[in-house]
Amino acid sequence: MRGIVKRFPGVVANAGVDFDLLPGEIHALLGENGAGKTTLMNVLYGLYEPDAGEIWLYGKRVSFASPRDAIASGLGMVHQHFMLIPPFTVAENIILGQRSPREPLLEDRSSVYERLLALSERYGLAIQPDAEVWTLSVGEQQRVEILKALYRGAEVLILDEPTAVLTPQEVEELLAILHRLVDEGKSIIFISHKLDEVLAASDRITVLRDGKVVDTVDASATNKKALARMMVGREVVLRVSKKPANPREPRLIVRELRANSDRGLPALRGVSFEVRAGEIFGIAGVAGNGQSELEEVIAGLRRATAGQVIICDKDTTNCSPREVGQAGLAHIPSDRYRRGLLKDFSVADNLVLQRVSSPPFTVHGVLRRDVIRQEAQRLVREFDVRTPSVDTPAGKLSGGNAQKMILARELARNPRVLLAAQPTRGLDVSAIEYVHRRLIEQRDAGLAILLISTELEEILTLSDRIGVMYEGEIVGVVDAREANINEIGLMMTGSKRQGDDVKEGAA
Ligand SMILES: Nc1ncnc2c1ncn2[C@@H]1O[C@H](COP(=O)(O)OP(=O)(O)O)[C@@H](O)[C@H]1O
Ligand SMILES: [Mg+2]
Repeated sequence: MRGIVKRFPGVVANAGVDFDLLPGEIHALLGENGAGKTTLMNVLYGLYEPDAGEIWLYGKRVSFASPRDAIASGLGMVHQHFMLIPPFTVAENIILGQRSPREPLLEDRSSVYERLLALSERYGLAIQPDAEVWTLSVGEQQRVEILKALYRGAEVLILDEPTAVLTPQEVEELLAILHRLVDEGKSIIFISHKLDEVLAASDRITVLRDGKVVDTVDASATNKKALARMMVGREVVLRVSKKPANPREPRLIVRELRANSDRGLPALRGVSFEVRAGEIFGIAGVAGNGQSELEEVIAGLRRATAGQVIICDKDTTNCSPREVGQAGLAHIPSDRYRRGLLKDFSVADNLVLQRVSSPPFTVHGVLRRDVIRQEAQRLVREFDVRTPSVDTPAGKLSGGNAQKMILARELARNPRVLLAAQPTRGLDVSAIEYVHRRLIEQRDAGLAILLISTELEEILTLSDRIGVMYEGEIVGVVDAREANINEIGLMMTGSKRQGDDVKEGAA
């Protein structure tokens, strides 16, 4: 790819990008959120027409009007969101996608089946062509997407953030498959924003920042620190350091909590834990194991069907969000834009949201605009929220600044317990570093923090104790100082902690 330019209204997503891929290599495309990685690959795959630039494949200039053209030229892409139809079998999904006016409608089922099985075995994908997709794990569905691309004759595979949805063990399995693919001569473009796995997986690494290539380097000739610097454009602290915790009295107690999902199925099946003043209790787990229901029940946004939530000695089970807040809970919601802020309201109004009707913001029933603006200006300065002014609508802030605003507001309430759900999702490295620092600072000042995150790295960096959630249960609690990423990874797939095995066996 030479000089690729792709503009969207108000953004240059790719500002003249050069990128090349060799046969038999794994080439990582590394960059922060918004760096332009997905756009570049969508251009390559024929989903976007570039505003300028050329694509050359095997020495020939190509121009793809659609993914169909790209596929015909031997490209395959596995998107961040899979495109499979759950009630259909693997084979049906693959044939469906394949169908085009140029191809016969009826294919010999058994020959399709045989070919899929052969491909699956050859590359160690472990996929049964007659399995129905809904019965497969996320990792298996991803391998179906890979199988689909191979079936269509892909020589070049593009994987967009493939590890975001996987457990550490599944990541290992995926990397093994990728190595097998390149051993057989395929070439792979591996998109990621995670430094460790990029270093472990790839031969070369191209770093994108603000739509431009910073550099292309050999993985063997670089390291995490250097990559982080390229990604962000300055020195970064990869792991904020922290002192040992000094936990005191329990402030949040969750007992035998049960609740249903939106579909009415049990999502929490008897969850119990406590969070003490001065500690960060992290909940680890693959997304969709009850974390969002737990968050909502504690915050008063979803009904518990059984069990108890106690905040600072007050039973807040099934209380309203306002009552839960009065009991001392602050909440950084996982769904920032739906629950965290009012997009059309100003930054100032957002910053005093829960406090606006009490003094000093309202006195004798009169709203004190000047006091609100002063408080907002103080918070914006203190929390480094980059905004043109405190009167700017909150919906105009970037993700990182919106999150800093929410953090500022929630901490300004002087909470006793902070529920932080996916507090850095979608943020760039520097905003993540900032949020992490503030959370540790608050812990040291005695706040009780419940951290819910699907980013294992974040859980390990921040937590003092870690509870692992699987299918609506806490399958184990570990001390973060002794935590081992493999053990936690295994627990994320449902294995109980060693030592609990005996009890399980007896039951
Ligand atoms: N379809 C689109 N319409 C408008 N803007 C887009 C579109 N796709 C991406 N962008 C913008 O282009 C930039 C690069 O985005 P993207 O390629 O998705 O980055 P990455 O994959 O590295 O996170 C971002 O500023 C993003 O908001
Ligand atoms: Mg992307």
